[in-house]
Amino acid sequence: MFQESKSPGATIKSERELTAMRQAGRVVALVHERLQTAVVPGVTTGELDRIAREVLKEQGAEPSFLDYAPVPGITPYPGVICSSLNEEIVHGIPGDRVVRNGDLVKLDVGAVVDGFHGDAAMTVIAGEGTKKTRALVDATRRSLEIGIEAAQSGARIGDIGAAIEDFILSCPQGFEVVREYTGHGIGRRLHEPPQIPNYGPAGRGLVLKPGMTIAIEPMVNIGGWETAVLDDEWTVVTADGELSAHFEHTIAITESGPEILTKLDG
Ligand code: MF3
Ligand code: CO
Repeated sequence: MFQESKSPGATIKSERELTAMRQAGRVVALVHERLQTAVVPGVTTGELDRIAREVLKEQGAEPSFLDYAPVPGITPYPGVICSSLNEEIVHGIPGDRVVRNGDLVKLDVGAVVDGFHGDAAMTVIAGEGTKKTRALVDATRRSLEIGIEAAQSGARIGDIGAAIEDFILSCPQGFEVVREYTGHGIGRRLHEPPQIPNYGPAGRGLVLKPGMTIAIEPMVNIGGWETAVLDDEWTVVTADGELSAHFEHTIAITESGPEILTKLDG
């Protein structure tokens, strides 16, 4: 998400609200499943967007991202999905761009069911990857798992980012974690408080409680963590032009541990 006003609150969802969020999450996972097989060299990002649009329609869900305008004056987001290639980190706009062999394709998908949002992202390598791109993708996927594992009832927001950052900085390749964009609370709105940074000290921030729903989304760069935004007002790229990967799940905090909502059979 974007850097918005810092508000510490987080809404607690009822069991009924969690049911809607599970449904939204399931639809997001279904879209990802269909997109995963569609990412082949030669496909355009616009075609991937159309596939997502169709699955949402077939499932009776609304897109979360289309026409989203988080800050006044910004061009409303024009896509159903975000498709970000290679050095693009997040918020890439789908269009005529052709995916090539070896490209890192980040697909971010949001769905609304019964007024509740689900939000998840994955990075797919089109065709064959290299040792370097596979290591980046594997480390970023793993950092999300580690971040989710840290999201226990009674833990603090800072524990999530600390776990993600510790793991990424321990990788021998010298990867860095993006700092200017974060995960977020999610529910009736796509972006709710609190922000969920992917870095920083453990033991700080809001205490996680059952019924909170959050999106955890580490963005990991091969080079430095600094970012820039393109003239289209949306696409976030690495400042140094190096590759980046992104994974995201929407989860619920429960007494018995984190529950991933953006999954199938949930
Ligand atoms: N997962 C992305 C985020 O939370 C989704 C952005 S949707 C967009 O930032 F519309 F803002 F692009
Ligand atoms: Co998100």
